Amino acid sequence: MAGSLSLRRRVRVAAKRVTSPARVALDRLFDWYLNVDTLSHVGATVDKTKYADQSMYESAAWLHIYLIMRSLRVGATHSVIDYGCGSGRILCAARRAGVRRLIGVEVNNELAELCRRNLQNLRGPDSSFDLKQIDVSEFCPEWASHAFLFNPFGPDTLELVIRRLEEMAHRERSEVLVVYIHPVHRGTIELRDGWRKLTTLRWRLFLHPTVVYSYSGRESSVE
Ligand SMILES: C[S@@+](CC[C@H](N)C(=O)[O-])C[C@H]1O[C@@H](n2cnc3c(N)ncnc32)[C@H](O)[C@@H]1O
Repeated sequence: MAGSLSLRRRVRVAAKRVTSPARVALDRLFDWYLNVDTLSHVGATVDKTKYADQSMYESAAWLHIYLIMRSLRVGATHSVIDYGCGSGRILCAARRAGVRRLIGVEVNNELAELCRRNLQNLRGPDSSFDLKQIDVSEFCPEWASHAFLFNPFGPDTLELVIRRLEEMAHRERSEVLVVYIHPVHRGTIELRDGWRKLTTLRWRLFLHPTVVYSYSGRESSVE
C-alpha cells in the first residue's frame, strides 16, 4: 500500500515536471492574446495582514478559470468578487464571460495596480470594475452573486470573509455562491450553518479541485 502510494506520488511529480512548463507557455499565450500581464509578479507577498495568514501570489491556469466560468454559466446577470485578486486573472475571465460588475480586493499595492492596468487593457467586452487596495478584513461586500477564492488566506481571514458574505446575503435577501479553488481551508465553510456544497469541479489535467458552496439569505435572518 505504502509502496503504491509513493509510486503514485512519484508519477504525479514527474507529470507535474512535464506539464508545468507547458502550462506556463499556455498562460503566456493567453496573456499575449488578452493583452494583459498576469505572470510577472508570481511569488509576490505582503508583509502584514490582520491575521498574518496571507498566501503568496499565484494563479490558477487561464484554461482552468475559463472552464470554471463555463461550468457555472457565469454571465451578464452576475456580480463577481475576487478575494485576493492578485493581477486579476479571475476578474478578466469573468469580464470575458460577460459579467458587468466586478470587484477585486487585493492588499498588495503592486498587484492591485497591475490588476487595474490589466482590466483597462483587456481585449474584450467593457464592464465596470471596482478595485479595492485593502486587506479583505476591511471590506464589507454590498452585493455579489459569486465570490471567488483561490486559496488566498488561512482560516481566520476566511471565516471573517464568510461571515460578511452571510450578512450580505441576509441584507440583500439573495443567494451567494462561493467558488473556492484549491480549497485548503474548506472546513471553515463547511462547519458553518446554512452553507450547502453544490459541487466539486475537477479536471484531470489540473491539480486543484474547486468546491462551490451556496448560501441563501432569502428566508431566515441573522441572529
Ligand atoms: C493565491 S493568490 C490568488 C490571486 C488571484 N485570485 C488569481 O486567482 O489569480 C492570493 C492573493 O491574495 C492576496 N491576499 C492574501 N491575503 C489577503 C488579504 N488579507 N487581503 C487582501 N488580499 C490578500 C495575496 O496578496 C495574493 O495576491
